[in-house]
Amino acid sequence: MTSGDSTSGQKYLLATFGCQMNEYDSNLVGAMLEKRGMEITENPDEANLFVVNTCSIRGGAEDKAYARVAALRYHKRHRPGVRIAVIGCMAQNHGEKIPVALEHVDYVVGPDGYGELEGMIFGEDTRNGLGNGNGAQVWTAQNDFENYEGMMARLDGSTSAHITIMRGCNKRCTYCIVPTVRGVERSRSAAEVIAETRHIVSQGVREICLLGQTVNSYRDDGPDGKVSFADLLRRLQEVDGLRRIRFTSPHPRHFDSDTIRAIAECDKVCNHVHMPLQSGSNSLLKKMRRQYTRERYLEIVEELRATLPGVAITTDIIAGFVGETEEDFEDTLSLMRAVRFDHAYMFSYSPREGTPSFDEVETLSAADKQLRLERVIELQMTHTEERLDALVGRTEEILIESPSSRDATEWVGKTGDFKKVIVPYAPGVEKGALVNARIRERRGLTLRGIVEPLILQG
Ligand code: SAH
Ligand code: SF4
Ligand code: F3S
Repeated sequence: MTSGDSTSGQKYLLATFGCQMNEYDSNLVGAMLEKRGMEITENPDEANLFVVNTCSIRGGAEDKAYARVAALRYHKRHRPGVRIAVIGCMAQNHGEKIPVALEHVDYVVGPDGYGELEGMIFGEDTRNGLGNGNGAQVWTAQNDFENYEGMMARLDGSTSAHITIMRGCNKRCTYCIVPTVRGVERSRSAAEVIAETRHIVSQGVREICLLGQTVNSYRDDGPDGKVSFADLLRRLQEVDGLRRIRFTSPHPRHFDSDTIRAIAECDKVCNHVHMPLQSGSNSLLKKMRRQYTRERYLEIVEELRATLPGVAITTDIIAGFVGETEEDFEDTLSLMRAVRFDHAYMFSYSPREGTPSFDEVETLSAADKQLRLERVIELQMTHTEERLDALVGRTEEILIESPSSRDATEWVGKTGDFKKVIVPYAPGVEKGALVNARIRERRGLTLRGIVEPLILQG
């Protein structure tokens, strides 16, 4: 009997914490499990295998992952065949410590070890279908070349799918754990990215989001010639049936004019750029080792707006980085006022052990950091509302994603510039359709629109 036979009909549950790259990786592991005959479930009571994909970016992310894994003890106790895999960045970061703290964990595997996970789960002794359950197995070896070549992530039925085009990160931002846990930067081959895109489009996906920690430093120096990030956008533009291309996150240091031209040339590339800022203070940017200045950031924004009329710009901001003075903080607020971001993900600085800034003494109390975070959020809220209000009265193309969870007669979609719009059902409104909608009002942070029936598109 092959292990595929013994596990067919067995079910696995995926729980994912962290960023979109973890979402993609969870689906890579999901594809591997399904190839072995397992089926996904959302019902914990019927899961034979729990896969918890974890994040280490801030202390809070790790606390959540520990709590989630701890809560799985119940299932393990009540159904002895159950196996628990803790994977991802926190698995890499804490390794052997995880089964010490959580004795019911069977497998701990970092982001380069998902091939090993397959061996662990479907190892020699498969009497219970899954592994042997004799003590935890831990794999945290890093592999600078692991790109999961030849593998494609499972699709979850959404109209939009992520595609990781590069793994790891070569920057050394002093606050950030990612280079430690994800290893060095490596790009996938353009041929593989295009093949994966073609495949998922044939499965009904209309929109892709290209992922990488510094996605615009993508570079394939393969046998078919050099492919830059801008070149990749141009190649993906040619994929029939693909309607929208997004990407996240470009690093300001690598935002060249050719990339901006490619976004302008390729009508499938959405008019939205998520470009993390972190801080508006030059001295802090230097301390963070971000490799750009406030002036350079503003210059890119200017070029984006001159070349891509109406482009939405979103960002990430850290409040209360170690050593942040009131003046530094004011610089962040003034830059936000100058740019007026469409949206921002805002965080208070969380010291991460193993990063350079961890060893520096913090001058701000937790309460002070929280206060600064609140001031950033408050200012951003006025800009977010302002940018949403600017769309009211306009007709925008929206990609319909799903019925609204609150009211099944309404559907949720997104504009090219990544704003959520709710529309009442109308003929032609269905998952995956691109329709034109007149935006009628903003309620809170959601726009409401009405589909214009005469200009319906496919
Ligand atoms: N590679 C991306 C960021 C990935 S991490 C980039 O460089 O733009 C996502 C965001 O988490 C970062 O942009 C940053 O704003 C935030 N972040 C990372 N480390 C953090 C820390 N130690 N404390 C608080 N926020 C952090
Ligand atoms: Fe972290 Fe900086 Fe790399 Fe982004 S670019 S993942 S913030 S080290
Ligand atoms: Fe978290 Fe790892 Fe992503 S630390 S933010 S899951 S790369």
